[in-house]
Amino acid sequence: MHIVMIGTGYVGLVSGACFADFGHQVTCVDKDASKIDGLHQGRMPIWEPGLEAIVSHNVQKGRLTFTTELKPAIDTADAVFIAVGTPTRRGDGHADLTYVYAAAKEIAGALVKPAVIVTKSTVPVGTGDEIAKILADNHAPEGTSVASNPEFLREGAAIRDFKIPDRIVVGAEDEHAREVLREIYRPLFLNKAPILFTGRRTAELIKYAANAFLATKISFINEIADLCEVVGGDVQEVARGIGLDNRIGPKFLHAGPGYGGSCFPKDTLALLQTADRYGVPMKIVGSVVAVNDERKNKMADRVREALGGSLEGKKVGVLGLTFKPNTDDMRDAPSLSLIAKLQEGGATVAAFDPVGIDAARPLLENVDFVADAYAAASDADALVLVTEWDEFRALDLRKLAGAMRGKALIDLRNVYEADEVVRAGLSYRGIGVPVAILSAAA
Ligand SMILES: NC(=O)c1ccc[n+]([C@@H]2O[C@H](COP(=O)([O-])OP(=O)(O)OC[C@H]3O[C@@H](n4cnc5c(N)ncnc54)[C@H](O)[C@@H]3O)[C@@H](O)[C@H]2O)c1
Repeated sequence: MHIVMIGTGYVGLVSGACFADFGHQVTCVDKDASKIDGLHQGRMPIWEPGLEAIVSHNVQKGRLTFTTELKPAIDTADAVFIAVGTPTRRGDGHADLTYVYAAAKEIAGALVKPAVIVTKSTVPVGTGDEIAKILADNHAPEGTSVASNPEFLREGAAIRDFKIPDRIVVGAEDEHAREVLREIYRPLFLNKAPILFTGRRTAELIKYAANAFLATKISFINEIADLCEVVGGDVQEVARGIGLDNRIGPKFLHAGPGYGGSCFPKDTLALLQTADRYGVPMKIVGSVVAVNDERKNKMADRVREALGGSLEGKKVGVLGLTFKPNTDDMRDAPSLSLIAKLQEGGATVAAFDPVGIDAARPLLENVDFVADAYAAASDADALVLVTEWDEFRALDLRKLAGAMRGKALIDLRNVYEADEVVRAGLSYRGIGVPVAILSAAA
C-alpha cells in the first residue's frame, strides 16, 4: 500500500514510521520545513523512545520518505491519513479544526485518482461528514471516501502501542474504505490485535469517550487521595485495593498533580462542547474537568504549607517539567501551572528535566533551568517532584538534603518512600497519604 501521512508530529511520525515498518510505502508530509529538513538529516522533531531507530531503518530500506509538498506525494496513494493537530480553540473549548479542514482542501486539490482519506487526528463527531463535503465541493475524484481511524498511542510508549494496540478502530461508510484499512493493518492481525469496524461517527466518538473515561479515573482517584489525606488512608493502597477488581482495573489510578498533556485536557473540553451543541449535558465529564483544573491550581499550596505558609523569597527546586516521563511534550503540563503559582507567591524556581528543557524554555519565564536534580536542589528551601522520570527514583536523598537550604520534599507522584526521605533528613509530603502523620515524622 502507498500511504501519505499529513502531519509529522507525535502521531503522524510514529504512525508513518510504523506503517513503513509493516512494509508499506509511506510519505510523510509536513508544512513545517524545519521538521522535514531535520528528518532528512536524521534528526527527530520529537523525543520518543525507539523512534529514531525505526525511522532510520525504514528510510534506509527506501520505504519512508519526507516532504513538504503534498501534490507529488499523493499521485499513487491508496490512503491519505490526516494526522494534524486539533488543539483547543482559543476562548471557547471547541476543537480547532482549521488544520484538518485545510488539509482536506489541499488533498482535494492534489488527488489525481480516488483514495481513502483517513482521519487519525482526534476530531469531534461529524467531522468526517464535513471532510467528505469539503472533498466533494473541491472536486476530489469520484470514488474518494472518508474514514475515521482514531489513534490511541501514548507518548513515551508510542511505538509499542502502535504495534501492539489493544484495538484498532475503523469507522467507515463503504466497503472499499474498510478493505483498504484492513489491508493496511493486516500485519497486526498476527499479533491478534482486534479491529473494530463501526460507522464513522461512532469511531469519532469512541476516541473522545475513551479519553474522557480515562480522565475520569484520574480525577476520581485524585479526589479519593484528598480524602485519604484527611481521614488517614493511603491512596496507593486504596488504588491497589480497587484496581485488583477486574471490573475496575489497576491503570489510571495513580493519584498525582492532575492530568495534563496534549490529549485529555483538550479532548474533555471538546467533548463538553459537542454535548452542549447537541443539547445533551455531560455532568460527569464537566466535573472531571473542574476537579482537574482546581487540582492543578492547588498544587502550589502544598509547597506553601510545607514552607510554613509563605512562598515569599523562597527558592523552590522542581524535578521534572514534561507532562509525563519519556516524552518532551510540555502541552498542558502540570509543571506550568505549578511554577506560575509558585512565582506568583514570590518564590524563585530552579528546574531540571531530563529531556524537556528545550520545549519548556519558551513556556516559562524567569526559571533557572539547571543541569541535574542536585543543581535544582542546591540552596532550595523546598524540592518538588512533578514528573516521575526513572532517573529521579534513584537519587541520593542524603546528597539532595545536603544540597538544600530547607528540608521540604514534596512528592507529587508518590515516587519515594516516606521513611527513607525522613531518614535522609528531609520532611516528606506525598499525595494521598495522611498529612499529619508525615509532618510529625519530619
Ligand atoms: N500526541 C498524542 O499522544 C496523541 C495521541 C492520540 C491522538 N492524538 C491526536 O492526533 C492529532 C495530532 O496530534 P500530535 O500530538 O501528533 O500533533 P503535533 O502538533 O505534534 O503534529 C501536528 C503536525 O501537523 C503539521 N501540519 C498541520 N497542518 C498541516 C498541513 N496542512 N499539511 C502538513 N502538515 C501539517 C504540523 O506542522 C505538525 O508538525 C491530534 O488530533 C491529537 O489529538 C495525539
